[in-house]
Amino acid sequence: MIRKACSDMTILVTGARGAVAGELIALLRRRGLPVRPASSRPEDPSVVACDLTDPATFPAALAGVDSVFLYAEPSHIDAFVKEAVTAGVSHLVLLSSSAVLAPDPDANPLAKSHLDVERALTAAPVRGTLLRPGTFAGNALAWAWPIKAGAPVSLPFPGSYVDPLHEADLAEAAAAVLTDPALGGRAYTLTGPDSITCAEQIGVLGRAIGRDIAIKQVTREEWKAEMADYLPGPIADALLDWQQLNDGVPTEITTDLEHLIGRPGRPFATWAQEHTAAFTP
Ligand SMILES: NC(=O)c1ccc[n+]([C@@H]2O[C@H](COP(=O)([O-])OP(=O)(O)OC[C@H]3O[C@@H](n4cnc5c(N)ncnc54)[C@H](OP(=O)(O)O)[C@@H]3O)[C@@H](O)[C@H]2O)c1
Repeated sequence: MIRKACSDMTILVTGARGAVAGELIALLRRRGLPVRPASSRPEDPSVVACDLTDPATFPAALAGVDSVFLYAEPSHIDAFVKEAVTAGVSHLVLLSSSAVLAPDPDANPLAKSHLDVERALTAAPVRGTLLRPGTFAGNALAWAWPIKAGAPVSLPFPGSYVDPLHEADLAEAAAAVLTDPALGGRAYTLTGPDSITCAEQIGVLGRAIGRDIAIKQVTREEWKAEMADYLPGPIADALLDWQQLNDGVPTEITTDLEHLIGRPGRPFATWAQEHTAAFTP
């Protein structure tokens, strides 16, 4: 068996400014593994440029790389895969989404970009691993402003279920598939440890910051109007459809995360306790 030289074992982590990539970079460094952080907008010299919408950035980012943690940006995925194969990359690990498992994912704007990248990886002559998380715990940061201001949180579907997944657990799962060859080459549906409603999430946040947080139930139209500055209309509609679909319907919790990290994921209460500063004035 030909062993790769140590310098060829480098792991390229795209999306370095994101919560999952940031946790993954720190984790790989703590384990002493050769990691190359990359960002579409590198802010310091230790981070290389890799803009997944700009193929000109691919060759330098991929040179000498053995495996890649990849964000799902479909616009130039074929060029990225081609360059990765040229560079001798042996494993591509995609941060996809469980939205690809939704009915008619080709027509679902939350699923489509992830699906297109999954298809490119599946067709590629290189091993691909698909991480399909459900809902990030960090999405709760979208409620930080009203909670800080002491205002009620607007919820169109307070009884809609989610499975908040701690980003550090997702990073740990990514590190597992990147470093253990026995785990790569398949798809994993990753959920948080508990299925809880949006209203229950607000209750958990309230207990973490030590006061009750009011909820204001709003219509789809009112919520869309509130989010108009942050979310394009089709994405807002898809998120509303997703919440409506899960209203009163507990999320199925999988065992894939525990299989990869060897323990259950951290509960939403842990994430909330770690992030109280974001919810207090
Ligand atoms: N939020 C959820 O509940 C959830 C659930 C399932 C799947 N996901 C998926 O997880 C990913 C991150 O979601 P998020 O909510 O954490 O979003 P986010 O906080 O807005 O992070 C966006 C990430 O995308 C990277 N990125 C953006 N443009 C890029 C480009 N042109 N080239 C390379 N990287 C680029 C950013 O890194 P740089 O700025 O450093 O390039 C950053 O890491 C998304 O693909 C999302 O669909 C999210």
